[in-house]
Amino acid sequence: MVETVKAKFAEVFGEGDINVYFAPGRVNMIGEHTDYNGGHVFPCALTIGTYAAVRKREDNKLRFYSMNFEDLGVIESDLEDLKPYKEANWTNYPKGVMWAFAGRGMKMDKGLDIVINGNIPNGSGLSSSASLEVLTGFLLRDLYGFDVTNQDLALIGQYSENNFNGMNCGIMDQFASAMGKKDNAIFLDTADLSFEYAPLVLQGAKIIVTNSNVKHSLVDSAYNDRRNESNAALKDLQTVIDINGLGDLSESQFEAHKHVIKSEVSRMRAKHAVYENQRTIRAVEALKQNDIETFGKLMNESHISLRDDYEVSCEEIDVLVDAAWKVDGVIGSRITGGGFGGCTVSIVKDEAVESFKEQVGKVYEEKTGKKADFYVVEIGDGPSKLA
Ligand code: GLA
Repeated sequence: MVETVKAKFAEVFGEGDINVYFAPGRVNMIGEHTDYNGGHVFPCALTIGTYAAVRKREDNKLRFYSMNFEDLGVIESDLEDLKPYKEANWTNYPKGVMWAFAGRGMKMDKGLDIVINGNIPNGSGLSSSASLEVLTGFLLRDLYGFDVTNQDLALIGQYSENNFNGMNCGIMDQFASAMGKKDNAIFLDTADLSFEYAPLVLQGAKIIVTNSNVKHSLVDSAYNDRRNESNAALKDLQTVIDINGLGDLSESQFEAHKHVIKSEVSRMRAKHAVYENQRTIRAVEALKQNDIETFGKLMNESHISLRDDYEVSCEEIDVLVDAAWKVDGVIGSRITGGGFGGCTVSIVKDEAVESFKEQVGKVYEEKTGKKADFYVVEIGDGPSKLA
């Protein structure tokens, strides 16, 4: 990857000094749609992600090229014009991060040339955009000497995505990418950003990500709707109980007060947020006790709740999960990420990996006419400088 992206850089922008950086994508094991509700999440960084070859310029120009969108060619901008434009396409992500740094008083003194190459399948829900944001922050820190921590990189990335790109995401994806640690998942409390690493080295089992290859349109607006519905529930609950987020509630507290939530839909969303948060806490406890079976059962319950109460699954994803549940040797399987397509994550015993791919792939094709892709994933580190 390093050589490929360097060679492309030399071809597009010319030979000379070239710096190469990497930031990972993520998969979330459990704790979905809890990160903007003050709950817990349990994601891990992957060894796949986004690479950049970069060189500072002598003027204020910004020139972007992506090996994933070669037909778009070089997209140009300028440090004086850090605004989102539709035709700027994917470059709105790195530009948003530059804009967010500038807003915090960290202005780039010169522009840059950059070539991007990612190996996260586009639109798969494995956080290619968060990895691009964290990558941009990481390379800006290195090239321009900005004084920020990796946790700041996550917050700046999220801020730029919310305020420059109009997607009201929570902190999970950027945090997982910026703070990732090999062979560990991150147990993060999004209420105060306290976190701990939990080893996720499975004895005799693998983590399999299955890509439905489906990305429904209007994903961002449906996501923002879920946020608003959860917030409406929170507002109603705050009239009777002193809480900052739905993550502050136990299941029994929720059951005792849920009648004050005016809209039925918001009540369902809140139920998911509360129960999913408690499931995540229990899942991490189970993992610490080496009780992977319980972890898997909680993953399955998480899926049902996301499907029925939060309504962020879709037909294709449900086919994948139902098929996975039927395979001998599957410990747990659920939708992962924002939803409405994208990927599932499953824990599968070593000896069942091949039959899993075969059976799930077959059922998926029969029922949907589409092909699924399978990745046996490894948990990797956060961002790094590679050359
Ligand atoms: C997307 C968002 C995250 C999180 C998940 C759902 O990936 O970017 O912040 O809300 O959806 O858990």
